[in-house]
Amino acid sequence: MALTNRYPSLSGKNVLITGGGTGIGACLVEAFAEQGARVCFIDILAEPSTKLVDRLNQEFPDARVKFYQADLLDISKLRQVIKDIDENFGGVSILVNNAASDTRHHVQEITPEYWDERINTNLRHYFFAIQAIQPQMQKLGGGSIINMGSMCWHDCHEGLAGYSAAKAGVVGLTRGLAKDLGKDKIRINTITPGWVMTERQLSHWINENTMKKIEENQCIKDYVMPEDIAAMALFLASEDSKHCTAQDFIVDGGWI
Ligand SMILES: NC(=O)c1ccc[n+]([C@@H]2O[C@H](COP(=O)([O-])OP(=O)(O)OC[C@H]3O[C@@H](n4cnc5c(N)ncnc54)[C@H](O)[C@@H]3O)[C@@H](O)[C@H]2O)c1
Repeated sequence: MALTNRYPSLSGKNVLITGGGTGIGACLVEAFAEQGARVCFIDILAEPSTKLVDRLNQEFPDARVKFYQADLLDISKLRQVIKDIDENFGGVSILVNNAASDTRHHVQEITPEYWDERINTNLRHYFFAIQAIQPQMQKLGGGSIINMGSMCWHDCHEGLAGYSAAKAGVVGLTRGLAKDLGKDKIRINTITPGWVMTERQLSHWINENTMKKIEENQCIKDYVMPEDIAAMALFLASEDSKHCTAQDFIVDGGWI
């Protein structure tokens, strides 16, 4: 990984990352492992997650990366995983709510059930992960929560009404919880990624036209990579950002 900064305050910390099996999440898992943090992650996909764990545990044995297979739509399972981490490793002091799904849909095809699925996939588990981890962070004397947002709703992106509503909600959730959590030195921030070149984006949506759109819209013409998001996440998780809370940090090459 191309990241060079070191954050001694992350060493030995317990980190939980949702959706850590692929994409930006996998990059976050690796970035925190590199810092000497103990990384647990949740994903629904077994194969890429197991491969990632095997590789990282060879490269960074101190990180003792642990994968929990779970569907985040199942809140009782999410709570079980968080309890297990507390009982086996001591509480979580850094939470990255990252898992989401940007499936496209036509306005007229959205049913009430599908709408609920969009909100539950992209917002509901963020809150319930925070709720379950709050007592652990209180016990540890503080913590840092990072909620992954998206620039899509700022950009009026078409075909993504459910995802966009949920992602706008992520910013509201961050600000809505900052005072409640701040009393216990628990910080909470949003990272708003621009268009990030993950495998899924490259295989599903990136083509000549979308590349042109990126070049037209970004002030910085280089593509935003998962490592650029991880760099911001490490800073926000570390003690170096101890007075940053309730904010939205945009990493989009200057698009919005
Ligand atoms: N890639 C981008 O361009 C981009 C842009 C803006 C925001 N984001 C945000 O960044 C975050 C990561 O995005 P990404 O591009 O890496 O996504 P991705 O689709 O590549 O990876 C998401 C991961 O979450 C997991 N996941 C999804 N739903 C799950 C569920 N119900 N239970 C358990 N695991 C589940 C997936 O299996 C996958 O491993 C998301 O919050 C996304 O909204 C990404």
